[in-house]
Amino acid sequence: MVTGIANKRSIAWGIARAYLREGASLIVTYQNERFKENLDKLLDDVDAPVKSLLLDVSNDESMTAFANDLEAMAPKGIDILVHSIAYADRTDLEGRFLDTKRDGFVMALTVSAYSLTELTRAVYPSMTKAGGGSIVAMTYQGSTRVMPNYNVMGVAKAALESSIRYLAFDLGKEHIRVNAISAGPVKTLAAAGVKGISQALHSTEERAPIPENISTDDVGNAAVFLSSDWARHITGHILFVDSGSHIMG
Ligand SMILES: NC(=O)c1ccc[n+]([C@@H]2O[C@H](COP(=O)([O-])OP(=O)(O)OC[C@H]3O[C@@H](n4cnc5c(N)ncnc54)[C@H](O)[C@@H]3O)[C@@H](O)[C@H]2O)c1
Repeated sequence: MVTGIANKRSIAWGIARAYLREGASLIVTYQNERFKENLDKLLDDVDAPVKSLLLDVSNDESMTAFANDLEAMAPKGIDILVHSIAYADRTDLEGRFLDTKRDGFVMALTVSAYSLTELTRAVYPSMTKAGGGSIVAMTYQGSTRVMPNYNVMGVAKAALESSIRYLAFDLGKEHIRVNAISAGPVKTLAAAGVKGISQALHSTEERAPIPENISTDDVGNAAVFLSSDWARHITGHILFVDSGSHIMG
């Protein structure tokens, strides 16, 4: 199950393509009708049958309907869940972090971090039924280092990464692994909301050990690895797919 496909540039679409290439049966979720139209167009070019499901993590009714529909959608259980969801108000992604208001903070942390725990709670019984599973979330280096303008999203990513570790502990006994991929900058809809994305892309080309920006295919391949048996004893881990940028001082 892959969440977070908004359009062809979405990291989640790169991940979905990689899973399809490896023969997975896919369920994708969309946030609203506008994104469903984009998704349907993308799925037109896919040979395999793909099920789609509405999921707005900021809406309790949507979360409940999603949890209720899971059984019918995947009667044999779900093996993999990809969380590729983030949102913050544009005004909180520029200027000073100091000026973040409570509403903006709660919104960013609820959608971008808490939703992982809520989704995991909804999906893990289905994974247990399948004999175990793998959960992969998307994060960014702004969780541990100050990236100008990333602000409240950096705090949300820190919460998401900490959630990865606690969820990994809770679910390890069920053979459910929980990891995150920390991706380098990619020009997507969400990234367009962060002032300075062009600078971040430029910085990778100038300063990263591999002086090239990553693609969504790179993230897809890493997600396939994390979800495969090759990674069967890897959990609670943050895997950097960023051309090595995170090691630079
Ligand atoms: N683009 C980058 O540079 C970059 C780098 C590292 C990590 N990430 C992370 O990758 C993930 C995917 O982002 P992206 O860059 O592909 O952008 P994107 O805009 O393509 O994807 C963001 C997704 O979040 C979904 N979303 C937002 N609010 C939601 C809600 N209430 N309910 C359900 N879905 C909701 C949107 O529908 C969209 O599909 C995010 O977690 C983002 O922080 C992005």
